[in-house]
Amino acid sequence: MGLQLKHPLVASASPLSQDLDGIKRLEDAGAAAVVMFSLFEEQIRQENAAFDYLTAVGTESFSESLSYFPEVEARETGPEPYLELIRKATEATDIPIIGSLNGITDEGWIDYATRIEQAGAKAVELNVYYIPADLDVSGREVEQLYLDVIRAVKAAITIPVAMKLSPFFSAFGEMAVRLVGAGADGLVLFNRFYQPDFDLDKLEVVPDLNLSDPNEIRLPLRWIAILCNRIRASLAATTGVHSTDEVVKYLLAGADVVMTTSALLRNGPDHLTTLIDGLSGWLEQRNYRSVAQMKGAMSQRHVADPSAFERANYIKVLQSYRNPYAA
Ligand SMILES: Cc1cc2nc3c(=O)[nH]c(=O)nc-3n(C[C@H](O)[C@H](O)[C@H](O)COP(=O)(O)O)c2cc1C
Repeated sequence: MGLQLKHPLVASASPLSQDLDGIKRLEDAGAAAVVMFSLFEEQIRQENAAFDYLTAVGTESFSESLSYFPEVEARETGPEPYLELIRKATEATDIPIIGSLNGITDEGWIDYATRIEQAGAKAVELNVYYIPADLDVSGREVEQLYLDVIRAVKAAITIPVAMKLSPFFSAFGEMAVRLVGAGADGLVLFNRFYQPDFDLDKLEVVPDLNLSDPNEIRLPLRWIAILCNRIRASLAATTGVHSTDEVVKYLLAGADVVMTTSALLRNGPDHLTTLIDGLSGWLEQRNYRSVAQMKGAMSQRHVADPSAFERANYIKVLQSYRNPYAA
């Protein structure tokens, strides 16, 4: 994306960046850049609506006007404090601070990309978290939504823009190409959706956020390996980075940066130092002089058996599984 980073390890969007101390701790632990936690479309709409209401009718019913909107739980930082935090963080640190916007339409909230740029962010990450539960919405319409968002944001700002994506597209490769065509400077693979669970005692749907585990790298790993050097955009890997092994695997697949959150929430921000030292150690041991030398060495175009990333391998893998109950 044109950002100069001292190494490829980046702290992805998380509560760890919710205050200045947290951001400084990430920098002290060695983060090459920090992606801020997201500012949500719902928060911006809520604030805009409250403002409209106040200017129209006066100040008495502020909280009442807010009650018409779905509650934004967990994140209480509204747009203004968010921008202020970016301002402070860019002044107080020497690493790129990346703003994050999370929404699904290409309307008013996108103005905040401009404000994030003005606040000093070096890039913006767009997280389009959309569940197409409406059975009348087609795949092409869903894709258009993503394209509209990236176009609108790119038209408004000059800093680079990355899109954090879900893997749930029929043809992810073509979608990646179209997003880059629409202006995306980077793709972040993959957004890890929170999945609801059922409480069998209360018969309720429970919103439960589980931290990732290292096995979850496989889906992003495959797509980074397939896309490496085939699209004109930077590739960031997110999900499942807990140890040096995952960092190295993602870089070998072709990631430009490797991001982590769950491991830092589990072990503390200082775990970043362990990952960075681990990567240095691995490079030294194998006589690599730079990350660039190993990046993409195991992408689909570089491995001896490119079909390993596709269907052909599927049959081999299934047939190689030994049935423990076979006579
Ligand atoms: C508690 C928590 C809060 C998160 N908040 C955000 C967020 O505000 N915006 C966002 O784009 N991703 C958010 N994420 C997703 C992470 O940035 C990351 O992409 C995801 O957790 C997968 O990476 P990991 O396996 O290293 O955790 C959050 C994740 C967790 C666990």
